[in-house]
Amino acid sequence: MASLCQLVSRGFCSSAARNTVIKHVTVIGAGLMGAGITQVAACTGHTVSLVDVSEDVLKKSVQGMEGSLRRVAKKKFADKHEAAEEFIQKVLQNVSVSTDVASAVAASHLVLEAIVENLKVKRDLFARLDKLAPEHTIFASNTSSLPITDIASSTSRQDRFGGLHFFNPVPMMKLVEVVGTSATSRETFDSLLNFSRSLGKTAVSCKDTPGFIVNRLLVPYMMEAVRLYERGDGSKEDIDIAMKLGAGYPMGPFELGDYVGLDTIKFIIDGWSAYNPDNPLFAQSELLNKLVADGKLGRKTGEGFYKYK
Ligand code: 3HC
Repeated sequence: MASLCQLVSRGFCSSAARNTVIKHVTVIGAGLMGAGITQVAACTGHTVSLVDVSEDVLKKSVQGMEGSLRRVAKKKFADKHEAAEEFIQKVLQNVSVSTDVASAVAASHLVLEAIVENLKVKRDLFARLDKLAPEHTIFASNTSSLPITDIASSTSRQDRFGGLHFFNPVPMMKLVEVVGTSATSRETFDSLLNFSRSLGKTAVSCKDTPGFIVNRLLVPYMMEAVRLYERGDGSKEDIDIAMKLGAGYPMGPFELGDYVGLDTIKFIIDGWSAYNPDNPLFAQSELLNKLVADGKLGRKTGEGFYKYK
């Protein structure tokens, strides 16, 4: 077993706290990712408080979860309708929704944020949560591109702060990236790893570097596909077919961009190119910028690279 000194020398801070077993989670932000994380946590026996500022978003989020659970139940129970319905209701019983963040976080082992990708908004939220949540509560962000360190420094619990990065669609994607900063304690990191595994996911350990592992590779690949198309070296359709049949990817880069949201891809690239303007992998794309400016954000708006019904 590694000694405390060895663990510290691997980049983890020491802490007197013991590993927290995460049973009750508060998820903040009821968009696609927040809803997916809530669903998976509730499915695996955790109790979840899902918080958003909008009642309407919470309502739509629960409807989305029900729809996704029906797809899961269809596979799990085939034509046993009663068992499927019982499963869905049992999972939903583990979920409570609220617009009152103070009462939601009062008894949480973990507060997981999945709100808009804006550093100031996230920092303001966590600074507030820091005053509301119990001392032992671990904080995590599902940010796809912002530095966890910059978010965590808005709190007085940087040792109990990490990243938990999920993938869309959360019920289907088996990976969670667990991100530790130089201030994250070993106990916190282990609790986050164990929590990810308790969701039935495979966890990988990441440092707090831009895009962690997956987005650092995936986003430049998607941007290069756009540049290939912009140069006229291949049609969108052919590039998508090529990557599906030639590389075994479930979706081609244009299909995936539309699925994830072109605003999300642009946001990530904008952030990286601002920090690192000379890196050609992070170069802007005129086409992507125009689609986003025109509100063509992908599936969610009915049009992106492709049109959707
Ligand atoms: N909930 C529950 N079940 C779902 C689901 C969901 N949201 N989406 C798909 N399924 C299941 C269902 O059982 C569905 O069958 P059904 O249609 O009869 O209900 C079955 O999967 C097959 O789904 P589809 O027929 O719609 O299509 P596919 O077979 O292509 O699977 C996919 C869909 C799982 C999304 C697959 O195409 C895929 O893996 N695509 C790549 C996704 C990916 O790369 N995600 C990562 C994006 S990057 C990211 O999220 C990071 C962020 O920071 C940017």
